[in-house]
Amino acid sequence: MESKKCVVLQMQIVYLLCLLFMSSLSLAADEEQNGMQTYIVWVEKPVAQGSSAQSHEDLESWYQTFLPESTIATSNQLSKPRIVHAYHNVATGFAAKLTPEEVKAMEKKPGFVSAYPEAILPLHTTHSPNFLGLNQGLGFWKGSNYGKGVIIGVLDTGVSPDHPSFSDAGVPPPPAKWKGKCEFNGRVCNNKLIGARNFNGISTGQPAGDPPLDQEGHGTHTSSTAAGNFVKGAAVFGMVKGTAVGMAPYAHLAIYRVCSVAGCAEGDILAAMDAAVDDGVDVLSLSLGGFSRPFYSDGVAVGAFGAIQKGIFVSCSAGNSGPSYSTSSNEAPWILTVGASTIDRNIRATARLGNKKEYNGESLFQPNNFNSKIMLPLVDAGSLGNQTTAFCDPGTLKNVKGKIVLCERGGAGGRIDKGAEVKRAGGAAMILMNQRIDGFSTLADPHVLPTAHVSYNAGLKIKSYLKSTTKPTATILFKGTVIGDKHAPSVASFSSRGPSTASPGILKPDITGPGVSILATWPVSVDNATKSKATFNIISGTSMSCPHLSGIAALLKGSHPDWSPAAIKSAIMTTADVHNLGGKSIVDQTLKAADLFAIGAGHVNPSKANDPGLVYDTQPNNYIQYLCGLNYTDKQIQIITQQTVDCSKIGAIPEAQLNYPSFSIIIGSNKKTKSQLYTRTVKNVGEANSTYKLDILAPHKVDVNVSPEVLKFTKVKQTITYRVKFVAQDGAGKDGVLFGKGYLRWVSDKHNVTSPIVVIFGS
Ligand SMILES: *[C@@H]1O[C@H](CO)[C@@H](O)[C@H](O)[C@H]1NC(C)=O
Ligand SMILES: *[C@@H]1O[C@H](CO)[C@@H](O)[C@H](O)[C@H]1NC(C)=O
Ligand SMILES: *[C@@H]1O[C@H](CO)[C@@H](O)[C@H](O)[C@H]1NC(C)=O
Ligand SMILES: *[C@@H]1O[C@H](CO)[C@@H](O)[C@H](O)[C@H]1NC(C)=O
Ligand SMILES: *[C@@H]1O[C@H](CO)[C@@H](O)[C@H](O)[C@H]1NC(C)=O
Repeated sequence: MESKKCVVLQMQIVYLLCLLFMSSLSLAADEEQNGMQTYIVWVEKPVAQGSSAQSHEDLESWYQTFLPESTIATSNQLSKPRIVHAYHNVATGFAAKLTPEEVKAMEKKPGFVSAYPEAILPLHTTHSPNFLGLNQGLGFWKGSNYGKGVIIGVLDTGVSPDHPSFSDAGVPPPPAKWKGKCEFNGRVCNNKLIGARNFNGISTGQPAGDPPLDQEGHGTHTSSTAAGNFVKGAAVFGMVKGTAVGMAPYAHLAIYRVCSVAGCAEGDILAAMDAAVDDGVDVLSLSLGGFSRPFYSDGVAVGAFGAIQKGIFVSCSAGNSGPSYSTSSNEAPWILTVGASTIDRNIRATARLGNKKEYNGESLFQPNNFNSKIMLPLVDAGSLGNQTTAFCDPGTLKNVKGKIVLCERGGAGGRIDKGAEVKRAGGAAMILMNQRIDGFSTLADPHVLPTAHVSYNAGLKIKSYLKSTTKPTATILFKGTVIGDKHAPSVASFSSRGPSTASPGILKPDITGPGVSILATWPVSVDNATKSKATFNIISGTSMSCPHLSGIAALLKGSHPDWSPAAIKSAIMTTADVHNLGGKSIVDQTLKAADLFAIGAGHVNPSKANDPGLVYDTQPNNYIQYLCGLNYTDKQIQIITQQTVDCSKIGAIPEAQLNYPSFSIIIGSNKKTKSQLYTRTVKNVGEANSTYKLDILAPHKVDVNVSPEVLKFTKVKQTITYRVKFVAQDGAGKDGVLFGKGYLRWVSDKHNVTSPIVVIFGS
């Protein structure tokens, strides 16, 4: 969500949200007055006496010993307890209110590892199932039983529980392993919504125990995208009419509220992950994340490792900080990192100029009382002042009464805020044009006045028309829902990009899924037209693509209960589509072929992921040598793995030696970096007797040699290891080309198992 926050903040609710925001700010201010902050504190496991297992009580008393003496004495009395969360599953440590001096004193205690102030992470703010080839009563959906019996834990802003998307029609009771709670007082959870807990604000001092009601919309939207039940007659502003449904319609949902409009506190996220492991979830979905940090000081990475150790699949959004390189969040290799792409649906609003030229754009708001026949005077907001005015920032516009105003993307306000400014200043309509970096990537937003959001190219043409005449005019033609965009899926400009900062030897993001103009459940009506409880909204972000993948992972878990999180991830990645509906390479916001730092393995193809043939499996312990290879200290690795690690004994492997379903190779021209050898191990999950032949596309100026070139399997679950050698040709990296792309593919009669290869030319 972050800078695109405006996408979800709209109309009436915006005021409520601002109030909420202010009250949480004032709480934070109180805390700051006495110099205390919430710290995440990592400690060693207590030395076990006798049995190796520690009870939660043992752990908590161990954590207490790290607190300053004075607080131990007073914490039983009236003063607030210092420890806000004591972790026992996914991490060894706790979140506590401390002053910097107290943290310093703690550092001297035996068993202390490290501490840092918790981060506040931003949220990364339906036709889509059919677009992904999921059809009722057919194929993979039927074969995977629509996710029956699988539990998806969603960490977000909570949920709006009485929406029909969360009806349990057709959903069986939760499996016996389920131990979670429903904290809606008097409000019943059901077989769909099996759990709902509130962790939000506990570490920022807000009262605990409030029901995890979604006051924002984001969590309701993401949970229904992952596993909303079928709801007929969904629409917003009368657009995109149809049946709304999540990816895994009969899976169970367990909601963990960890975010408010003020963001998501790291300590709360970890506490929810800790609880979700106890509760028995199968998949975790997190549409939130911050900037890159080393994995041992990234609560989501640490928590996710604890989850995969218990066989839980973790899917996270890549972030909305694209299209610049190295902007991805959630980069740990044990997480599925999801970028955002378009679906083949536009909600069209076409800008028509006085010279009869037309430029197709988008808008979710499609007024039926706007007279497109009347040409309105057109004005460029940028001509009314400086760059701030060109962005139509709040309070900047004057003299636009009755006019259609051209505004640029960027600046202080969100896309919808710009329209609000035009409306405030008396404007009649808006043409919103992209910045250069956003290229052709447009969005259908619920604008507050007649709007067409057009590409940068179209914007430039409109600007030159404005210069060409003394009486420029324009209007907007509202054409409604248009299906069949041959450029779809294409990567959205906002979708965060690799290479990974924390681990450049792992390609990130891993995959893309639908994240642009996604219709899903919303707590309230956004158009006043919907009188029923079935209210929906259309929003965009990697926040929206992440739960698509979480739901698909649940379907795969349903049809292959014995697959590890790494196997599920491999199946999703090696079967991904790299072509769009028009049969061409998937493009990005520039309409040119997207690079691998934008799409990773490609666009998810759920039915193919269900039958991948081979998988690249990885057990949790396999990550330890990889972490040693990142040159983390033994203690830093222990924060992640919660077990004693001695890199000098077990040895280190380079990042690219991890048994990952893609390759990211940093290749240089010196003797040591010019030629690199790796192995990969594939496991047969297809037919017992199957033969795979190599198909390789070597990246620019790099030779790739693989041996053997044929893999012959005779058994299911049989594994075969192959070797790949990358050798830079003379002159590689010297011709101005920074990255090269290719693929390594194993081809049988029935399967294509494809791994993308990216090479980064270094020294
Ligand atoms: C641009 O114009 C606005 C309004 O006229 C003014 O407040 C702002 O300071 C100006 N900004 C710059 C960079 O000149
Ligand atoms: C919805 O109704 C409210 C209150 O009547 C009004 O202020 C708002 O503009 C309406 N929204 C739309 C999109 O019509
Ligand atoms: C780790 O240290 C070794 C030896 O100094 C170096 O060759 C290697 O590149 C480092 N790895 C990373 C990921 O920084
Ligand atoms: C696989 O092939 C071998 C030898 O060709 C044969 O003996 C065996 O029965 C086959 N297995 C299956 C499951 O078809
Ligand atoms: C594998 O890929 C080739 C080339 O793209 C395609 O023709 C073939 O149909 C694919 N096979 C399967 C089983 O998907």
